Amino acid sequence: MSDFQRTLVTTALPYANGPVHLGHLAGVYLPADIYVRYKRLKGEDIIHIGGSDEHGVPITITAEKEGISPRDVVDRYHRMNLDAFSKCHISFDYYGRTTSEVHHKTAQEFFLEIEQKGIFQQKTEKLFFDTKAERFLSDRYVTGTCPICNNPEANGDQCEQCGTHLSPLELINPKSKLSDATPELRDTMHWYFPLGRFQEQLEVYVNEHDLQTISPDDVTKRIDSLWRSNVINYTRTWLKQGLNDRAITRDLSWGIKVPLESEEAAGKVLYVWFDAVLGYISFTKEWAVERGESNLWTSYWQDPKCRLVHFIGKDNVVFHTLMFPAILMAWNEGRDHDCYNLADNVPASEFMNFEGRKFSKSRNYAVYLGEFLEKFPADTLRYSIAMNYPENKDTDFSWQDFQNRTNGELADTLGNFIKRSVDFTNSKFDGVVPIDCPSDVMKSFTVILTHDNDVEIDELGNRVDLDDLIDEIGQAYEQFHFRDAVSKTMDIARKANRFLTQNEPWKLIKSDRDAAAKIMSVSLNLCHTLALLFYPVIPETCNRIYAMLGFEGTIESLIKPGVSLLEQAKMPGLQKGHKLCGNSEILFTKIEDSAIAPELEKIAALLAEAEKREAGAEQCRMEFKPEISFDDFQKVDLRVARVIAAEKVQKAGKLLKLQLQVGSVTKQVLAGIAKHYTPEEMIGKNVVLVANLAERSIRDEVSEGMILAVEGADGKLFVLEPSGDEINGKLIQ
Ligand code: 2FM
Ligand code: ZN
Repeated sequence: MSDFQRTLVTTALPYANGPVHLGHLAGVYLPADIYVRYKRLKGEDIIHIGGSDEHGVPITITAEKEGISPRDVVDRYHRMNLDAFSKCHISFDYYGRTTSEVHHKTAQEFFLEIEQKGIFQQKTEKLFFDTKAERFLSDRYVTGTCPICNNPEANGDQCEQCGTHLSPLELINPKSKLSDATPELRDTMHWYFPLGRFQEQLEVYVNEHDLQTISPDDVTKRIDSLWRSNVINYTRTWLKQGLNDRAITRDLSWGIKVPLESEEAAGKVLYVWFDAVLGYISFTKEWAVERGESNLWTSYWQDPKCRLVHFIGKDNVVFHTLMFPAILMAWNEGRDHDCYNLADNVPASEFMNFEGRKFSKSRNYAVYLGEFLEKFPADTLRYSIAMNYPENKDTDFSWQDFQNRTNGELADTLGNFIKRSVDFTNSKFDGVVPIDCPSDVMKSFTVILTHDNDVEIDELGNRVDLDDLIDEIGQAYEQFHFRDAVSKTMDIARKANRFLTQNEPWKLIKSDRDAAAKIMSVSLNLCHTLALLFYPVIPETCNRIYAMLGFEGTIESLIKPGVSLLEQAKMPGLQKGHKLCGNSEILFTKIEDSAIAPELEKIAALLAEAEKREAGAEQCRMEFKPEISFDDFQKVDLRVARVIAAEKVQKAGKLLKLQLQVGSVTKQVLAGIAKHYTPEEMIGKNVVLVANLAERSIRDEVSEGMILAVEGADGKLFVLEPSGDEINGKLIQ
């Protein structure tokens, strides 16, 4: 197929601002690890680079909330996540940190290269500024009332209650999270990356990875380079809309400094996304240094024979299919050396939900990886999650599913087969492989052997060939179909288990020891095959199977460049006379109902809380004022009036002074609409006047009523404008 010689796998860098949860594991880290282990098993050259994303505003907010430094926050979560990943056997070749010196230098080098080529643009924009704290406020530092649901604690980028994406300018009564002060708008200059400049190049790049547009000659050759439909769809949506300039600097103190001496660069750092994607490069450099071959990183980034694969979640697609490639294109522009490869594939997952709900850290609905592994073994989790891999659509993981897969598939099928094979050999054949396994029998082991060694056809009429089954598993892995690969692997275990059960060596041995010996040599060799085949998913268990089979080293110790253990899995690996270790162990402890009962209780409590919160949000959305009687309503005199004159009120920026014609009467009303309408716009309008409101005096001017207006989504006021013929002065009822 493709002529790549090596592979670089990267996994999205989780923010070091909280513990990783099972959703992260399912979408990104587990599939990547399974893929990398599978490739290693094949003897391929592959490295897995990951690390912590240690910049970004949420980190400084956590630090401020807890009264600690951002450095303390990232130290805590970097350690915690690295520890959880290692307990889950996610085998990174390197796990870096974006606060490292190498990374800061790399990101700054990229900035300077693009700046010197004159590609960036500079633009001045208005941002909220906190005059007490003397700082510009990024979106997350502004809070206020959501214009949609009235949640008084909406963030400047999103309202957590109703989920609406907001800009800080849309918030009602915006406040700074730093000082509680009302922020003011001030000009600030930022560097922009002109993504649109790369639109054409990006379209050519995407076309090469889209089944609909790739040249037909390339389809078979590059089948593993085709992107999933979700990745294509997200990317195409952006391309269709036309790519816009993206600000890549921020006014913050925590981050990578803009590497310029100019006054305008002071106090500015690189936008976290610009820096994070470059982390993949920095960490590969650090990995190479750690190996004592500091230039080795270039073989993975700058040699076109290396295949680059980014494992990410669906929320990160365009950063990896458009932004990062465009940054690399900007670097590569005009160069004939030191050019970077673009990603060959970007297997982005959908989301894995838990008990029917999306994981949400901010809503405290999550099961954290580290905590989970304190209670249950990593391999049972790895297997269950792999079987729920959200490849094309969101999936749901539940405690019940975890229990069923552990007990039914891992314990009753795989574990039971291995233990029965080993125990029977230990007790009846002194723990020694009794005869050489005939490779043709092993190949078609799924058929049932009769006493005289005739081969029968299985119930489906097929002779299933082990080689074909293993090749199918390989193909599924190559094309990132993890659930398919793992369930096909479990199918082989199921067939092996059935082979042993149906041949009944425990009965056979009484009449025909040789026939029983043959069954056992096939079974033991299938144990060996399964240990290799399952290695990408449940590596720790496979090493335990290997030990039970009497091997001294781990499977890792057998991995060698150019040697495919996957091919070896097709052939008998245990010869006559091979001695097992002599003992057996229970590979998977069944999960009792009592073990998951407390977890189910916890989930029920979390769900109840979430429902309460949502009900609260619903109420808030529809919160009406206290009831009034019809008579109360009748007291309000609402009239159609016409604006005949309008002017601004001196020293009251929000107010317009309106003269209203109501039938034969003229009234003066002060209305807080100056930010939304000019006096000229108001003249001639029909408005709704509350005509019998007690007179008020505002800024030495009299107001004899009020006019009705409604606030729109962006905080803008819209005056109600009744229409109709000859309605001036008429009562509204
Ligand atoms: O969404 C996130 O958690 C980001 N920290 C992912 C960054 S991926 C890459 F760019 F490093
Ligand atoms: Zn809201």
